[in-house]
Amino acid sequence: MKKSIFTSITMAAVFIIGTAISSISMAAVPAPPVVQNQGIPDGVFNNLQEADCRTCHNQNPPPGIPVDPTYLPNRHHLLVDTTIPPDSDRPNPDPDGDGVVNTLYECLSCHSLVWNPNTFSYELDPNFRDCLVCHQQTAEATVHHLTALAAAQDCKACHGGLIDNPNDGHYIPTYQPSLVTPWPSGKPNGDDTVPANSAGTFAGNCNFCHNTADGAGGAPGLNQEPTQLGSIASVYQNHETHHGTGLAIVDSSRCAWCHDVSQPSPAYAIRACEACHGVSSLHNITADTDGNGVTPGAELPGYSHTGAQSDCWGCHGNNGVIMSAPMSGPAIPSIASMSGSTVAAGADSTITLGGMNFTNYIRNPWTGAFDILVSSSVQLTDAAGNATLLSPSSITEDTIEVVIPAAMAAGNYNLTAKKGPSEGNPMNLTITPEISISSAVCDGGALTVSGSGFGTHLDASDSGTSVTMDGQAGDVTSWSDTQIQAGFTGCGSTATVNTVYDSDSASVN
Ligand code: HEC
Ligand code: HEC
Ligand code: HEC
Ligand code: HEC
Ligand code: HEC
Ligand code: HEC
Ligand code: HEC
Ligand code: HEC
Repeated sequence: MKKSIFTSITMAAVFIIGTAISSISMAAVPAPPVVQNQGIPDGVFNNLQEADCRTCHNQNPPPGIPVDPTYLPNRHHLLVDTTIPPDSDRPNPDPDGDGVVNTLYECLSCHSLVWNPNTFSYELDPNFRDCLVCHQQTAEATVHHLTALAAAQDCKACHGGLIDNPNDGHYIPTYQPSLVTPWPSGKPNGDDTVPANSAGTFAGNCNFCHNTADGAGGAPGLNQEPTQLGSIASVYQNHETHHGTGLAIVDSSRCAWCHDVSQPSPAYAIRACEACHGVSSLHNITADTDGNGVTPGAELPGYSHTGAQSDCWGCHGNNGVIMSAPMSGPAIPSIASMSGSTVAAGADSTITLGGMNFTNYIRNPWTGAFDILVSSSVQLTDAAGNATLLSPSSITEDTIEVVIPAAMAAGNYNLTAKKGPSEGNPMNLTITPEISISSAVCDGGALTVSGSGFGTHLDASDSGTSVTMDGQAGDVTSWSDTQIQAGFTGCGSTATVNTVYDSDSASVN
């Protein structure tokens, strides 16, 4: 078996390079390094600049990686009138200067105004685009790993179900390690009946596959093992990717999150890793490699953990055949693209999600064949943690079409694909408030507009919030979510309300 596995890995490489499957493979198989189709690219992201943030946080992130396709102004603006958390990055704690720290976000929690003597009006201080003016990082601890979520070890909040959270009660074996127990690296009895991989590692170790091609440290800029993120990430070694988060630089007691210092035997080292890489998450990382759906055990080797028998051997090296992987079943789905990241409340909107593992086959206990198809639902979770499960209107292994119902309230939502206990990576969906004018009445230049969804007004010439009549801006005297009053030099025929999300017009009576 061992020999046949090795040859099948090599043959897979030949096969893959010569066929259409190359579209899903960024690196050549066999590993190392592994392909980079799932999860965050295996990189180190230190000393990021605004442009790096925008590589991921923009409406068209690079294809194939689960980053956030949000329209960022909306995502920030939907926080207006919501509660400010204790560790907030808002630059202005007391925007109106009344000596009381605000508890709800308002425009000036984040923006400042500057007087422009030429236009004789207030304008937004233009310094509101550099992420790092507000969001903090240290040299090695990234913005993400300095959050309250990371401190609380809620790693899944951003990384999704490719990993487990420490302390969530998932299964970690306690029996004595054996010859088939995987090691993080350096397993002395790893299988040496076949040649080592290009990095000099034998099977039975995580770094048999997860490593740089030559086993040397990752090198920024050299582009030795490129990922979809180009210059800001190439593939690094496992200690570099994990230490590079800066999690333990902030607090050295956190070394114990990943290393059990009380257990000197390296045969037990994997057990500390299992705090996040539990048996059930590891055994559900799989992929479709032949375009006919995900069938664990019948896929090409080298693309995942349970695609082929030889993948088992990569971790459990030094063994014969293992028949089935306990706790495997609902392959972990990943979303890599969304046809729209913003929809408006008040109307049904259809969005299309691209990704992988949205469906997969599981073993039929009666026939032994992999002929039971399991499918994902789409879950929307609001900021308060309330979840809504939506059934897709259509689904394939790599595409979901889903209707976001008109009744969903405006706000930022986490959107995930969920298949039984396996929930994938979170994407952000912003639902913007519906704006609608029910009446516009003008009396001698005093305009009153009634309706809903007017939001908040900020008195600055470029704030994006204004009321106009026949194109002329009015002097706002009062503005609430449902009524606006403004003064003009006379009455016109069409009134328009502009909010940070949208605008609406109506005839003036
Ligand atoms: C490799 C891609 C990537 C890069 C680079 C990146 N982000 Fe993120 N960021 C994500 C993902 C994925 C999430 C989690 C999902 C989400 O909230 O959209 C996230 C979440 C966040 C959050 C929300 C944190 C929370 O508590 O929920 C903030 C704030 C943030 N990023 C800011 C930044 C800033 C600032 C930078 C640049 C210094 C940056 N990001 C660079 C991918 C990235
Ligand atoms: C939580 C912080 C936050 C709050 C609160 C906030 N903004 Fe913003 N706003 C931002 C950030 C950050 C950007 C820039 C995002 C970017 O460049 O991608 C932005 C961008 C803008 C822009 C430029 C829009 C564009 O398309 O580039 C305008 C105008 C604006 N904000 C007005 C407002 C008004 C009016 C309010 C109150 C109703 C408000 N903001 C509340 C953070 C905030
Ligand atoms: C003017 C200050 C400011 C700037 C500039 C800014 N942000 Fe923010 N951002 C905030 C605040 C405030 C929050 C709310 C969380 C908090 O209070 O810490 C926030 C929240 C976020 C969130 C999470 C929103 C949610 O779902 O709750 C993301 C993602 C994010 N910012 C990314 C970015 C990125 C990327 C940039 C740069 C392109 C950026 N921000 C620029 C102030 C800012
Ligand atoms: C707020 C969102 C967020 C949280 C919470 C979070 N991460 Fe991350 N993580 C990211 C993003 C985005 C990246 C890539 C950019 C970066 O490093 O900041 C990343 C990168 C990583 C990487 C390197 C990339 C890779 O694939 O190897 C590791 C390892 C990692 N995180 C571990 C953790 C651990 C452990 C926790 C929990 C203690 C955690 N993260 C919590 C968002 C998050
Ligand atoms: C037989 C080769 C092989 C071995 C051995 C292996 N992996 Fe993987 N692993 C893969 C492949 C291939 C992927 C899919 C990578 C992709 O598409 O991004 C993967 C994906 C992952 C992911 C999903 C997130 C990511 O960053 O890609 C995690 C987490 C992971 N492996 C952890 C481990 C751990 C922990 C070990 C050791 C116990 C290990 N792996 C051993 C091949 C392997
Ligand atoms: C988020 C998880 C994580 C944290 C936190 C962490 N490590 Fe590691 N560490 C790893 C991984 C993964 C490896 C690679 C293991 C392997 O391949 O054998 C590693 C490897 C090591 C190694 C051997 C390789 C090397 O880099 O020399 C040492 C020593 C080490 N860690 C010490 C520490 C110390 C000390 C701390 C606290 C300051 C710490 N680690 C915090 C995940 C972590
Ligand atoms: C506290 C949680 C945590 C612990 C403990 C942990 N990891 Fe990870 N690990 C992560 C996260 C988060 C990722 C990134 C997943 C993604 O790509 O989104 C990751 C990714 C990986 C990957 C995939 C390659 C990569 O860098 O993305 C490997 C291999 C891996 N870890 C090995 C280990 C080993 C070995 C240990 C024990 C020494 C360990 N991890 C301990 C959280 C953890
Ligand atoms: C990414 C590495 C990895 C891959 C690939 C992998 N496993 Fe595992 N498996 C583990 C780890 C880690 C454990 C827990 C070992 C321990 O702590 O003793 C485990 C445990 C097991 C166990 C014992 C479960 C128990 O109840 O304690 C069996 C049986 C098993 N794996 C079978 C398989 C089979 C079959 C495959 C291939 C279809 C496979 N594994 C692929 C990492 C892996």
